[in-house]
Amino acid sequence: MGKLNGEKIKTCVFISGKGTNLLSIIKSSRDYNFPAKVTLIISDRINAPGLIYAKKYNIPFKVFSSENKSKFETKTLLELKKNHNRLICLAGFMKILSPKFIERFRYKILNIHPSLLPKYKGTNTHKRVLNNKEKYSGCTVHYVTSKLDSGPIILKKKILIKKNDNEKSLKYKILKQEHLIYPQAIRLLYK
Ligand code: GRF
Repeated sequence: MGKLNGEKIKTCVFISGKGTNLLSIIKSSRDYNFPAKVTLIISDRINAPGLIYAKKYNIPFKVFSSENKSKFETKTLLELKKNHNRLICLAGFMKILSPKFIERFRYKILNIHPSLLPKYKGTNTHKRVLNNKEKYSGCTVHYVTSKLDSGPIILKKKILIKKNDNEKSLKYKILKQEHLIYPQAIRLLYK
């Protein structure tokens, strides 16, 4: 799947938190040659700090509570249809989507995870990595399937863990790499 009739792929980014990956995708998409354009942002948290980027860059956004997953997905689906979104990027979106929703967008949902998948799926990755005295960690962009953090891998970036690294420093270093590989993965897939 590439650009449709020379148009950028209308992309929706799902967030729950800070949205720094959202920002990196928005910034990349301002490049004429970038294949995707963020045309919709969905947050399941009204106070997600990342919503500031929706306002700053004038991108339509919707906030739907995900407490009731089925209602969240129904409302979201309607918005995605209305906006003709063909790609979904999960960027710090903390809710697990239903298999039905994922199937509806087969191979059209991407996620970024702060570990070298298939290692360290789930949460608290940096803590677990450090506890296990790993030499390396990193981040992974992958397709979303109904098995958590297990879909086919698109791109990974490995970093060396230094002796004095702690959870905070590791998180920071990896996040910086995330901001590079998420847009890179999108370029790779849809160029
Ligand atoms: C990132 O570390 C990402 O890998 C994980 O959640 C964090 C989101 O950060 N899924 P941000 O909201 O993009 O700043």
